Amino acid sequence: MKGVRRVIVSRSLEEARRIVAAWRERGLLVGFVPTMGYLHEGHLALLRMARRECDRVAASIFVNPLQFGPGEDYLRYPRDEERDLGLAREAGVDLVFLPPAEEMYPPGFSTYIEVEGLSAPLCGRFRPGHFRGVATVVAKLFLLFLPQRAYFGEKDAQQLLIVRRLVRDLGLPVEVVGHPTVREPDGLALSSRNSYLSPREREAALCLWRALQAGRKLLEQGERRVSEIAQAMEKVIRAEPLARLEYAECVTLPGLEVPERAEGRILLAVAARVGPARLIDNLPLEVTPEGVATASV
Ligand code: PAF
Repeated sequence: MKGVRRVIVSRSLEEARRIVAAWRERGLLVGFVPTMGYLHEGHLALLRMARRECDRVAASIFVNPLQFGPGEDYLRYPRDEERDLGLAREAGVDLVFLPPAEEMYPPGFSTYIEVEGLSAPLCGRFRPGHFRGVATVVAKLFLLFLPQRAYFGEKDAQQLLIVRRLVRDLGLPVEVVGHPTVREPDGLALSSRNSYLSPREREAALCLWRALQAGRKLLEQGERRVSEIAQAMEKVIRAEPLARLEYAECVTLPGLEVPERAEGRILLAVAARVGPARLIDNLPLEVTPEGVATASV
């Protein structure tokens, strides 16, 4: 059919490697979007950006067991392969890599990538081993495809910063491109985990966005004390009976350290459990004597 491109689906690491290597040998610019599937508008924004900027687009759909801790939602993480393949096709993806876990982690797998420092704060405090799992799978996928560009959402700001550091430290020839968080009209950041929420929990989940807005408002009023800003965000989340706060912090960009004062490039970052879902959100800001502006991660 005219206008709809053919999408190659591969479950084999060797086959996917050969396909992408052949593109590179032809001098084509390859964009790569790693995902865990259950695609939503946030993923589609990344796929469309890659489509606009690159000659060929490869996406992976792999619920990576390494990045889930014991008792986390690996088994119940939402999956819908048919729907994902339809959406990937519509977004103009050329190759979808859908490896079984044994293909990525053969028996005896024992090589891991650890990005120290950046993996420790924020989500690192609540999900030990999570970023080691992310860094390992991302490094493996990058080495497999050697894409010139790879696309990540800013909703997972800490992940994006860790991937940038990994690429720099290992000298991988990949340009890591961030895309602003995609939100529902009422502000809720899109996440595959939003599918866990009941209508009442969906309403409660908005406290994350409200907390970030409260933090920004204080900054706009001239507050620069990090503890005051963090406390204001915490208060909003604690006021929501269905939410259990994990953290509400104001940290530096790109180092994720707690600054003396909220000045320069900073990240307001929050995480809370709402019903069965663990949700995160953030707001990257540039704070100058002239005022507060939205920034990028
Ligand atoms: O952001 C995600 O969906 C995952 O952490 C990623 C980058 C695909 C690695 O499994």
